Amino acid sequence: MTETLTIQRPDDWHLHLRDGAMLAAVLPETARHFARAIIMPNLVPPVVTAAQAAAYRDRILAALPDGFGFAPLMTLYLTEETDPDDVAAAHASGLVHAVKLYPAGATTNSASGVANFDRVRGVLERMADIGLPLCVHGEVTTPDIDIFDRESVFIDRVLDPIRRATPGLRVVMEHITTSGAVDYARSGGADLAATITTHHLVINRNHILVGGIHPHYYCLPVAKRETHRQALVGAATSGDGCFFLGTDSAPHTDALKLSACGCAGCFTATNTLSILAEVFERENALPRLEGFTSRHGPGFYRLPVNTETVTLTRGEPVTYPGAIQTDDGPVSVFDPGFPLHWRVTG
Ligand code: NCD
Ligand code: ZN
Repeated sequence: MTETLTIQRPDDWHLHLRDGAMLAAVLPETARHFARAIIMPNLVPPVVTAAQAAAYRDRILAALPDGFGFAPLMTLYLTEETDPDDVAAAHASGLVHAVKLYPAGATTNSASGVANFDRVRGVLERMADIGLPLCVHGEVTTPDIDIFDRESVFIDRVLDPIRRATPGLRVVMEHITTSGAVDYARSGGADLAATITTHHLVINRNHILVGGIHPHYYCLPVAKRETHRQALVGAATSGDGCFFLGTDSAPHTDALKLSACGCAGCFTATNTLSILAEVFERENALPRLEGFTSRHGPGFYRLPVNTETVTLTRGEPVTYPGAIQTDDGPVSVFDPGFPLHWRVTG
């Protein structure tokens, strides 16, 4: 018997597309299955102004092959110099759907991020007024905090104080990795949500470090212990509208990953839907996949749910290429480490 699952077309609420040759190579991998994506602004230099976001959006649309319907939802990279008027105008025009907060030095290309949070208070208050979401990379960066504790310390020392000081600020906790973040997201009411990546539903920290070092499983925030992975799976499959998919698909060439100081990021765009269907099936939660991939995100971002659908079909194990080729070099596709039985068939 063939098993099929038809869901409203998904969106990806946290995606790195990069620029140039990398953009051209990775964009079809997302556009094949997803209708929209929140586009991360951590280019070099970062996408800081509305004018830069408009130009980047044009480059994405120019790189989109014929026949793909895909809408990039642009974001601005918050710096201590960000102009509240520029942000408000970019939002009012429909160009920008979120502002991204990177604590300075937290992750790939975050050097221009925020060090002194008092200096962005005016922007955050304006965002609360106009209802523009703040997407937060929730890790402290001070060297005395252990890398596995950086998310929980961020929630206590940075996120919670910001939210208390800025009533009405709408916040997305990006790529959460801990049970504490799950609990905090749940407790935050209508102005708080959290994205969960594909890979954090699959790997724990043993996958990175046991039996040799596995650089393709290294990302930020770094995967935590198994109990946290289980909490993330519980949240994603719960049907709770405050949790939705943000793949954080973050392509780096293999040369940059397989290095003495390898880059952080997992490239999951190619096989994300197959992996998610497998994860949800194991939890007997396939009926809740659509909420996670296609309904909760638009709900939070106040956008319509996509009208088109995608159909997944269960069958013999499906294989994906180990890597996609780009003019910058190969980019390995995330390997979940278990067979995938669901493929997108329509
Ligand atoms: C991202 C990247 O490569 O841009 N890397 C990652 O490990 N997730 C940055 C980010 O989202 O932290
Ligand atoms: Zn990211």
